[in-house]
Amino acid sequence: MPQPLTILGLESSCDDTAAAVVRHEPGIPAEIMSNEVYGQTELHVDFGGVVPEIAARAHAEKIDLVVQAALEKAGLGLAEIDAVAVTAGPGLIGGVLSGLMCAKGIAAGAGLPLIGVNHLAGHALTPRLTDQLEFPYLMLLVSGGHCQFLIATAHDQFTRLGGTIDDAPGEAFDKVAKLLGLPQPGGPSIEQAAESGDEMRFNLPRPLLDRPDCDMSFSGLKTAVLRARDGLIADQGGLFAQDQTDISASFQAAVRDVLAAKCARAFDQYLELSPKAPAIAVAGGVAANKTLREALKMLADQHGAAFIAPPLKLCTDNAAMIAWAGIERYRAGQLDDMTLAARPRWPLDRVAAPMLGSGKKGAKA
Ligand code: KG4
Ligand code: ZN
Repeated sequence: MPQPLTILGLESSCDDTAAAVVRHEPGIPAEIMSNEVYGQTELHVDFGGVVPEIAARAHAEKIDLVVQAALEKAGLGLAEIDAVAVTAGPGLIGGVLSGLMCAKGIAAGAGLPLIGVNHLAGHALTPRLTDQLEFPYLMLLVSGGHCQFLIATAHDQFTRLGGTIDDAPGEAFDKVAKLLGLPQPGGPSIEQAAESGDEMRFNLPRPLLDRPDCDMSFSGLKTAVLRARDGLIADQGGLFAQDQTDISASFQAAVRDVLAAKCARAFDQYLELSPKAPAIAVAGGVAANKTLREALKMLADQHGAAFIAPPLKLCTDNAAMIAWAGIERYRAGQLDDMTLAARPRWPLDRVAAPMLGSGKKGAKA
């Protein structure tokens, strides 16, 4: 009988410094004993994106504090922890190194095993932490830094079916919000504005739907929004509140339509594996979007598949997902040692061709 495990997880690959403690006894759902996140949004807000040097310094300053907070919240000392799991990539190298050095120090000092986790695997395995989802399942990872369809067949086996060839959707939401004078982060403000908008008013493009694959593009959509906005300003001398809400609704609908249509294609490919209990799962900040969730749920319902959307706190960057991925690796005997290296780029699918897309964290998948 496998032993119960209590794992400390660390995450610092972008602009969130996070630590969590997760406990798992085989046969029962895992318990998230603590899940602490120190965000850095205000440090980067004036620069219109994450500044790697600023992020790295902030991680180095906060990582030990967030670990201490996570242990305190869990009510545990290091003596009660079985291993330390840490994001070893992909991401901004300075941030990844801060987390990795801290994890190595804890592992060496407390005599604990060290486990290096792929950040994307952390996101992709979250439905197993929250819903005990069985393999194989289809995963849409969609945030400010990621956008890809994956088939998860094992905790360390993923097939990438396609992804964005340029911007990630969250990045597009953020840039469009900026164009419309709405506050950051753009996703929630566009979603709110869209509630009173008319999604039919602007006929924005649905890029790459003419291509049969699962790749996507969101950068042209952003340019189309810019043109629509500038056209209105030229015609009427400014942008009215109704224009903001209508553009928001039209843009959100275009993103939803592209993701849903490509997800339908990804689902067809996934069905070729003849899964016993077909399931579509989402993760990433954009998975918070209600319109998108409804469209994906409808798709799943139409095909008799389950739809799994973890709570938002576990969809966005966090360390509970890293601790959970660490538990999966521990159980598979995949422990690391002090030679564990930070990897700025670390695709989940080792066979698929590299994606050109950047996302706010740079090319990595
Ligand atoms: O996963 P996340 O916290 O960080 C990474 O990018 O890794 O995702 C943040 C992104 C931001 O671009 C934000 O605008 C977007 O997720 N987002 C949303 C919503 N909430 C957050 N996009 C659309 N609709 C939302 N409700
Ligand atoms: Zn992430």
